[in-house]
Amino acid sequence: MNVIKVKNYDEMSEKAAEFIVDRIHTIENPVLGLATGSTPEGLYQRIIKKYEQNEVSFKDVTTFNLDEYVGLEKNDPNSYYYFMNEKLFRHVDIEMDRVRVPNGVAEDLENECREHERAIEQAGGVDVQVLGIGGNGHIGFNEPGTPFSSKTHVVDLDQSTIQANARFFKSIDEVPTQAVSMGIETIMNSKEILLLVSGEAKADAMAKLLNGEVSEDFPASILKQHDNVTVIVDEAALTIAEGK
Ligand code: PGA
Repeated sequence: MNVIKVKNYDEMSEKAAEFIVDRIHTIENPVLGLATGSTPEGLYQRIIKKYEQNEVSFKDVTTFNLDEYVGLEKNDPNSYYYFMNEKLFRHVDIEMDRVRVPNGVAEDLENECREHERAIEQAGGVDVQVLGIGGNGHIGFNEPGTPFSSKTHVVDLDQSTIQANARFFKSIDEVPTQAVSMGIETIMNSKEILLLVSGEAKADAMAKLLNGEVSEDFPASILKQHDNVTVIVDEAALTIAEGK
């Protein structure tokens, strides 16, 4: 893993935006894997700014999102489709038929998982996958214990994930308990991975990632076996790893 240390969230977001814009410029018909959550919001804001300044266009870009809550419609403000539309898609010149967020209200969720895999394959695979990390080491919604060989699947969310995400909902009872998530193998099949890590709440996970074993108990650890991973991490997230 190529670890880039930055001062804070803003610098992480700016470096990440430069990284993604560079890949959009250098890869023909780029396929991006995108993530939701607080971590990539700053990245998306900066990408929009670069689009507005004519530094980048999304007209040849295809995107696949990592995950979606089961049971939330596209127009539900807590759905990841809604998040992506609000935070990125509607602000840039992306063709919406080149965007795929798993459908969390599909009648046949198993089929939806297969469709997500099939669409990724048909697009030629993901060129660059953007990732955050959960406090428990999850990537996408692949919670501890998920087999490294998993493809897109329906997952039961960890109680810690439900608690962490309750901040977006009126009450914790409204947080969905399941999601559709790209699997760990799906993520590992990406040609390149960009992992963003910011803040003290991620310091423990970051220390485990840098210093721990590769184990299904800590899903992000598998990234150490991918040959093209860039981690952009801020000082607050490094406090435990660096013993500060
Ligand atoms: P966050 O979530 O960016 O909201 O911290 C990251 C994750 O759970 O993968």
